[in-house]
Amino acid sequence: MPRVPAYFDAFLAAVATGAEIDHVHLGHWDEPDALGPRRARATFAAAQVRLSERLVDLLGIRAGDRVLDVGCGFGGTLRALRLSHPGADLVGLNIDARQLAVSLGREPAPTNATWIAADACRLPFAAASFDRLLCVEAAFHFASRAAFLAEASRVLSPGGVLAMSDFVLARPPLPPGVVAAFEERLEAEFGPWPDKWTALDEIGRDAARAGLALAVQDATRHTGPSYHTIAPDDRTGLTGGAVLRELHRTGCLRYLYLRLEKR
Ligand SMILES: C[S@@+](CC[C@H](N)C(=O)[O-])C[C@H]1O[C@@H](n2cnc3c(N)ncnc32)[C@H](O)[C@@H]1O
Repeated sequence: MPRVPAYFDAFLAAVATGAEIDHVHLGHWDEPDALGPRRARATFAAAQVRLSERLVDLLGIRAGDRVLDVGCGFGGTLRALRLSHPGADLVGLNIDARQLAVSLGREPAPTNATWIAADACRLPFAAASFDRLLCVEAAFHFASRAAFLAEASRVLSPGGVLAMSDFVLARPPLPPGVVAAFEERLEAEFGPWPDKWTALDEIGRDAARAGLALAVQDATRHTGPSYHTIAPDDRTGLTGGAVLRELHRTGCLRYLYLRLEKR
């Protein structure tokens, strides 16, 4: 069974003491450039909602669609869908049953949602079970993006759509010791992250092999202010957040919205 990301222990502990955490991913700002650190932090939660809305928009959900959110976290996107698309049939899937238990206890009551503990690379559904698939900032954790895309294609009906966001990191042109330290921090704080350095071309080839037509939107700039929250400038030392912030600053990190349509 794949490992649950260890950083969720802290989120679960916060939830246990009353924190209302809906989303665990970066935010999207339409006008990110003039934003200072304080404003970026104050608007982070709203920007997280906006990012998940951007991906939902890519899906084009119709009444009666069967929708699966893979790596659904605490279910914030599905809860929003429950209100915006009451006619859709919603399923949330996560490797971590503890997160699903939190989702189950939240309002609005999930009358049209089901929650399933399983691995994204071995989806426990028959072929063509869904019309729309979501995967918000989770695929970098999966054992293999190629295996996930093949599974996504299998469970989508013809003409179905997967919308996902993902980090695509290029190996930075730095001494091997520095790159190894970056890798160690990413794995320790944000792992599992099996395939850290990858290329969009590779994802494009995996998508084509899975029979999915890929369209890409680069949201890197729009997610930039997130680093004021996940790696505040006054933190010292090499943290996982600081590594992501540095890769973002040096153009080695791209944050992408991917729309994949089953041919
Ligand atoms: C960065 S969080 C994003 C959570 C959620 N999509 C959101 O937007 O708030 C990554 C999620 O992927 C889940 N995950 C990690 N590996 C997984 C796997 N192999 N199969 C299914 N879910 C997985 C984690 O438990 C976590 O909920």
